Amino acid sequence: MNPTPIHILCVDDQPMNLDLLEAFLAGEDFTILKAENGRQALEIIERDPVDLVLLDVMMPEIDGFEVCRRIKADQHKRTIPVVMITAYAEKENRILGIEAGAEDFLSKPLDRVEVLARVNMLLKVKRLNDQLNSAYSTITNLISFGEQVITAFDPLQFNFMRTIKGIVRQLLAESCHVPDKPQIALVHLQDWDSWFHFEYQQGRLVQIPLTAEIGKTLDIPERGSHFSFFNKEDLHQPHIADFIKALGDTMDPPENLVYCLSKKLAFCALNYGRPVTGYDAEILNSVVAQGLFLQSLSRQLTDTEEAFVYTLQALARASELNDEDTGNHILRVGHYCAVIAQHLGMSEQFVNQIRQQAITHDIGKIQTPPQILKKPGKLNDEEYEIMKRHTVYGARILGDHVRLALARSIALTHHERYDGSGYPNGLKGGQIPIEGRIVTLADQYDALRNPRVYKPAFDHDTTVRIITEGDGRTLPQHFDPEILKAFQEVAPLFEEIYEELK
Ligand code: C2E
Ligand code: SIN
Ligand code: FE
Repeated sequence: MNPTPIHILCVDDQPMNLDLLEAFLAGEDFTILKAENGRQALEIIERDPVDLVLLDVMMPEIDGFEVCRRIKADQHKRTIPVVMITAYAEKENRILGIEAGAEDFLSKPLDRVEVLARVNMLLKVKRLNDQLNSAYSTITNLISFGEQVITAFDPLQFNFMRTIKGIVRQLLAESCHVPDKPQIALVHLQDWDSWFHFEYQQGRLVQIPLTAEIGKTLDIPERGSHFSFFNKEDLHQPHIADFIKALGDTMDPPENLVYCLSKKLAFCALNYGRPVTGYDAEILNSVVAQGLFLQSLSRQLTDTEEAFVYTLQALARASELNDEDTGNHILRVGHYCAVIAQHLGMSEQFVNQIRQQAITHDIGKIQTPPQILKKPGKLNDEEYEIMKRHTVYGARILGDHVRLALARSIALTHHERYDGSGYPNGLKGGQIPIEGRIVTLADQYDALRNPRVYKPAFDHDTTVRIITEGDGRTLPQHFDPEILKAFQEVAPLFEEIYEELK
């Protein structure tokens, strides 16, 4: 790494004094910028990166105090240290200089050793200050990321890998012109049991899987986390050397490295555009802690979600006890619905929800007398009226919890027909919610494919024909034309699902 050179601006109206300063500072690896008056000095500060100003007080036009005041009034420039150069023993000037915001003073005649000592001390302070600011901005960044995560938090859509990528995005430099940030992140997720290399390439975050062997070279603690930082000269240390060697297979040797290692999540940040410090390690440690917290939250949510789906399925199965259908009918209906919803271009969330929640469409049958459900022949009008109530009962059983809103809507409307001839409310066309319009077709497909006490099973082609052309009981106008069209396009998938989940 070529550290950006340090720019020192010397300001004096007498070229001789400028030459003297330049001679003092020569051989110290500084880039010297020179200005012969206040206006020129301010122009240079505006235009070039300046790390320190040596400023003569007495100058025509804009004097040194005014230059200093303007630097300290500019919020982007005020961290540049200013050393005022005054004539010997001018107490007055020192007070004015302090008021103008100067960091330090040098008296004429200048002494080389003293100039260098002051300059180096102030540069060191500035470097520490910059590091603090950079750590501060990273922390602010991470806090705002945390806020975003929480604001956008959707318990049903949570994805740990996406969250990790979000953290990586905040952490990494999008281009090599951001010296504060690292260029590369190497992340190990226990769940995926693999290492990933993240890096911005032409403004895009690229993710490359790495061999798990890399991790074996690191000493990852069984419990808790361990963090550390390494500059170029530290990379030969024995406990890190194997890791650096292993990296050599996939990338150039790193300039510097900060890591935080824990069993569940390990994070390495490489190639900061500056020397790394304990601050960077602390920040990475908090990043990992944040990631682990989100993971644990996601685990708990996943468990809850699984319990929810399991309970929904148990509930749906309970309603089958009285029915001819056993086993997979309910699951199949969910899958058919998902296929149609997907084909109609509905959101992933809706597709998943309808797959989950269509399965309780007939839950109300739990309240239908078994002698009606099991009647070997055709139902009479009275029996059919009782049968129809399973829709309303179903909605009542599912209740009004928001997580079951879709299931409830489906139970209530899955026997409505597009032409208004359905039940329980005789809704028509768009009055019927889309989920009801989808489930009615999926339900009928599966009912037709299976034997019932009152009817034989039909094969796929016969079933498709009954749905698309009608058989007297079922008519094409019962269905939403768009859903009917989608069904015709994806009918082979229905057959596959039926065969797979027979
Ligand atoms: P299910 O057996 O699950 O049938 C669901 C839907 O699939 C029926 O709604 C109907 O639209 C369609 N479907 C089922 N079998 C046939 C068929 O052979 N031909 C045609 N074209 N469509 C069919 P529906 O009619 O509102 O019936 C609701 C539920 O009432 C049925 O659920 C079943 O449990 C019961 N059910 C209906 N008709 C009879 C019947 O004649 N005898 C008996 N025992 N139960 C019946
Ligand atoms: C789905 O449920 O979304 C698809 C099922 C399948 O195609 O087997
Ligand atoms: Fe039904």
